[in-house]
Amino acid sequence: MPVVDVHTHMYPPAYMQLLRNRTSVPYVKSFPDDPTAGDRLVILPAEDTASTSRGRPIGPEYYDVNEKLAFMRKHHIDISVVSLANPWLDWLPSNEAAETARQVNDDVERMCAEHESKLYAFGTLPLSAPAEQVVEEIERLASLPHHRGIIMGTTGLGSGLDDPALDPIYAALEKHQQLVFLHPHYGLPTSVYGPRASDYGHVLPLALGFPLETTIAVTRMLLSGVWDRFPRLNVLIAHSGGTLPFLAGRIESCIAHDAHLKKLGKLENRRDVWSVLKENVFLDAVIYSEIGLKAAIDASGVDRLMFGTDHPFFPPLDESETEWLSVKLNSQAVQSALEDEEKVDAVMGGNAARILRLPG
Ligand code: URA
Ligand code: ZN
Repeated sequence: MPVVDVHTHMYPPAYMQLLRNRTSVPYVKSFPDDPTAGDRLVILPAEDTASTSRGRPIGPEYYDVNEKLAFMRKHHIDISVVSLANPWLDWLPSNEAAETARQVNDDVERMCAEHESKLYAFGTLPLSAPAEQVVEEIERLASLPHHRGIIMGTTGLGSGLDDPALDPIYAALEKHQQLVFLHPHYGLPTSVYGPRASDYGHVLPLALGFPLETTIAVTRMLLSGVWDRFPRLNVLIAHSGGTLPFLAGRIESCIAHDAHLKKLGKLENRRDVWSVLKENVFLDAVIYSEIGLKAAIDASGVDRLMFGTDHPFFPPLDESETEWLSVKLNSQAVQSALEDEEKVDAVMGGNAARILRLPG
């Protein structure tokens, strides 16, 4: 049974060039006068402070395919399904988005073809372009031999994933059975982290902002009836579903007790969160603990969970560590949540091979 990493990012060369040409978020800036600063990746407004410690360091692990392959060898990963890292193409002017998406997706397709049976990909959509152009790219991606779906954030066309204007896009994704890898980027408004947030590094936005952003986005999709209109739309939710497996009962109870929804007749003939979790949702195993993983398994079933690493994010702070702690925590969680070896193999790769049509 192969070990498959379904949550692993890259900024392919075509995208790196775009970031290097920019001076506002998102951008990559090099500091030639300060060799200790190196290249810095700045993707969030809150990281864009006027110092050489702005953003985070970015090296070849973000864009060099050989680094990805070396990481895979070190961690005994046979196949990686790579996706563009946040913030994808969300920020592009509308008239440049479609052509850029084609270039970036073709760049990734070429890379996968050069490493046959090792690399597959989730493509990127030009979401700032008119919906027809987004649909065209979905159709094109469906014909690329190494692509297995798309990655996107939570903003949709600018006003979230409950926007009815997304319907033609959801229809195309459903028609072509393109899995949507839903991944956070924007977190929550920084005010919720309080006046001392900067004392705590990136912990609050990454540990809490990211999963809550995802949870809110999926709940809005549910409330707006996306899965009632598109019952075969499949979504791989990052970080073991944000907090959805844990909060599903509360979400359903709040719906069942909502007088406004009742008055609008929205409590009848709706698919509930439990059925969506079991029939439309796949979850990655990027949750770093047995407890979160068990909640994900209970909510969606062990056959819908897929191992991931989030490489190249969360590298070891001590560079002498060869095996990454972030990877070890996720694979140990799979082992301890599931003592049955067959189920462990399924989560580590068998499920991904079946769901994403990868070499088994
Ligand atoms: N930080 C990010 O910005 N993206 C990830 O995918 C993980 C951590
Ligand atoms: Zn990620």
